[in-house]
Amino acid sequence: MAPGLIPQTFIDELVSRADIVEVIRARVPLKKVGRNYVARCPFHKEKTPSFHVNAEKQFYQCFGCNAHGTVIDFLMEYEHMAFPDAIEELARERGFTVPRGAGIPDHSEKHRTLHEWLEKATQYYQRMLREHPQAQVARAYLERRGLNAEVIARFRIGYAPPNWDNLLPALGGETAKAPLLEAGMLVKKEGSGRVYDRFRHRIMFPIENQRGQILAFGARQLGDDPPKYLNSPETPLFHKGNALYGVYQVLGQMRSTDCLLVVEGYMDVVALAQYGIPYAVATLGTATTAEHLKRLFRITSRVVFCFDGDRAGRSAAWRALEASLPELRDQHDIRFLLLPEGEDPDTLVRSEGLDAFTTRVHRATPLIEHLLGTLQAESSPGKIERQAQVLARVRPLMTNLSSEIYRALLMRELAGFTQLPLDQLSELMRSSVAVPQNTPPPPKTTQPMQRKSGRQIGEQHATHTSPMRTAIGLLLKRPDLAKLAGDPSRYAGWNIPGARVLTEVLTLLQTQPTLSLAAILEHWRGTETGPYLTQLAQWTPMVPAEGMAVEWKDALERLAQQARDQETARLAEKDLSTLTEAEKGQLRALCTRTRTG
Ligand code: UTP
Ligand code: MN
Repeated sequence: MAPGLIPQTFIDELVSRADIVEVIRARVPLKKVGRNYVARCPFHKEKTPSFHVNAEKQFYQCFGCNAHGTVIDFLMEYEHMAFPDAIEELARERGFTVPRGAGIPDHSEKHRTLHEWLEKATQYYQRMLREHPQAQVARAYLERRGLNAEVIARFRIGYAPPNWDNLLPALGGETAKAPLLEAGMLVKKEGSGRVYDRFRHRIMFPIENQRGQILAFGARQLGDDPPKYLNSPETPLFHKGNALYGVYQVLGQMRSTDCLLVVEGYMDVVALAQYGIPYAVATLGTATTAEHLKRLFRITSRVVFCFDGDRAGRSAAWRALEASLPELRDQHDIRFLLLPEGEDPDTLVRSEGLDAFTTRVHRATPLIEHLLGTLQAESSPGKIERQAQVLARVRPLMTNLSSEIYRALLMRELAGFTQLPLDQLSELMRSSVAVPQNTPPPPKTTQPMQRKSGRQIGEQHATHTSPMRTAIGLLLKRPDLAKLAGDPSRYAGWNIPGARVLTEVLTLLQTQPTLSLAAILEHWRGTETGPYLTQLAQWTPMVPAEGMAVEWKDALERLAQQARDQETARLAEKDLSTLTEAEKGQLRALCTRTRTG
């Protein structure tokens, strides 16, 4: 155990025994309704209660502002506490002492070490850009892209030389090996213990945090070794889903800024900075996440999302809009700037100059206008049909819109557009707003949230969702099912989305079958998997208690079949003559199994 860390076993025990109702009731007056509790939401202003606490699941969720989580999340949000303090507080309330030597979990020491090594790597790449015999190609490339020395220095752009083993000897040999591996700079060769450089013959863009410490790198190809951009993997320092490239250069010593322009690429940020727009940051080739939005709004209240105007760009803009709604507060201003097709900010600012580009930023479309415009453009031509479709699609979005002011203004716009009286419209919209939604949208799809009506609250038949989501969802509901699954490692090799998560959850539950749902979720706090599990945890399977084991085995069997089909397809694609005898046998066996089901 690292010094200062709270032992996981203690957290497991504490969270499994805690009662969320008790903890929340001490802070917010709760009213019992059926088996659950409701209150006016403590996280946003409202007149009618939409904050629900589910005693059985040990979960809270506000259907107005979409705040949700476990007892620990509640303490963190309500008391503005960091994670270790929330643990301390919960322990104190229950009369426990956090084990000695615990307290603040001290990742800081390890992080500091990793930052130091990445700082050395950055300086090394910068030096290579100046000195390496083959850096001529890199310098010529940067020149061709029109970057000047000042901006290259400001963004600390460098060059990783060719060949497989530059970094380790340059940074001090054996002592550097472990930290550079952990920071994603080296890759371990399978089989042998040997390592090699992840980044070779590439332009290096260091990704910094708000304090200018290096977290990771984005590396652009110079030769024709794909991918075009190779990024550091997920590491203790780097989580792609919430990183913002360029944030240090925007903020400098400040903590906030008036406005942020969110673009897609490294080059866009750098070119914009050079051309006089020093307030751009980039998401790293991922869809805009809630984490991004939270970070953005911690440093500004005005965000302009900038995307290419082609189909991919428009759909990325829509995903950003969907992610924005739950984070939108009354004082925020979110806008969308779609560029002419095929242009990116880098090309455009060069061709049309600072003034023209700035004008585009100023004229970016405000969120509500973008929302209605997009929905109208995507609806049928008939006037009434269009109005109906727009209303139907706005309804689920409305539920996620946490700002009452924006909600009211959107309502006014809709009234103007449909010529419906406001009260009738509110009635129509409310029929969805008041219904608790326990059914998360399937994770990782681009479909807008669909709300179930009336009696179906929280019920969704397992067949509507993928076998993987069903399997993990059931497991979270009934951890004891884990023992029916056999050795978790058999699932690890499946090339099915979620297989890794399933394996991890199974491994945990087979060793600790008595963890509560909240305690299980705590194991993935702060990881990419966390929100995915939280969503699945809110799903209520429409399966009677006694049918769960059957449903679970069925989901596993369907997954196994999916894995076999994939393997069959993979082997079948190969030229028969190149198959080994073992592979041929495998293929025959797979085909027989597939035919007999
Ligand atoms: P783009 O393909 O738009 O590249 O990807 P770009 O930024 O305009 O780069 P240039 O102008 O061709 O040099 C946008 C972003 O998507 C991520 C990177 O963060 C990139 O900046 N990306 C793209 C990757 O991570 N990997 C890739 O292979 C491509
Ligand atoms: Mn580009």
